[in-house]
Amino acid sequence: MRRPLVAGNWKMHGTHSSVAELIKGLRQLALPSGVDVAVMPPCLFISQVIQGLAGKAIDVGAQNSAVEPMQGALTGETAPSQLADVGCSMVLVGHSERRLILGESDEVVSRKFAAAQSCGLVPVLCVGETRAEREAGKTLEVVARQLGSVIDELGVGAFARAVVAYEPVWAIGTGLTASPAQAQEVHAAIRAQLAAENAELAKGVRLLYGGSVKAASAAELFGMPDIDGGLVGGASLNADEFGAICRAAGS
Ligand code: PGA
Repeated sequence: MRRPLVAGNWKMHGTHSSVAELIKGLRQLALPSGVDVAVMPPCLFISQVIQGLAGKAIDVGAQNSAVEPMQGALTGETAPSQLADVGCSMVLVGHSERRLILGESDEVVSRKFAAAQSCGLVPVLCVGETRAEREAGKTLEVVARQLGSVIDELGVGAFARAVVAYEPVWAIGTGLTASPAQAQEVHAAIRAQLAAENAELAKGVRLLYGGSVKAASAAELFGMPDIDGGLVGGASLNADEFGAICRAAGS
């Protein structure tokens, strides 16, 4: 049985005081015991969140980390070893906003994945097609390329300690959610691609759905056989809404 995971991606949101408020809300949540819960604040607030959530069963992750594992001369970046040192347990790799706005290539994504993993962080590999790619019937091809490039570089064994998040770009921050059937189709293809290399391993890999997940849509999505939780953007900035999504993953 795969244990569900719900991760909140705060993106570039928050101030010192709004983060303090959000921590207060998160501390008050009743969370289901069978679900792993994580939040990913902007790097600047990670220590504040780790301290603020001490004793609460919520992991803290980062939204990005450097291509190199260890600290060194790489201006503006954060080494995965530094994230691990302050208490992060996971990191997003290859979020579409970084692929599309910052031009992160599949090669860079693989390097970040490997660097993060070598420091003990769990990489959460984000994959997903744009609207144009979906309309052109290329969804499965695009996702297979993004996943395949990491498998080719690092071997399928790297996914024994990793998570994959399917996030259709057209559903991110738009209020449009993939239907449970649309999401399940891609999740099943991702698992099949992993299974083609190692069937046993593929059964254990958690596959999250992301893209306008709300409390109202979560239960139906999480009820699909290959959807093991969610990567939640906008709705994770509201503690009560986020809590309701976490509970949906536990039911
Ligand atoms: P959204 O973002 O829930 O606001 O659509 C999801 C994500 O980009 O991780």
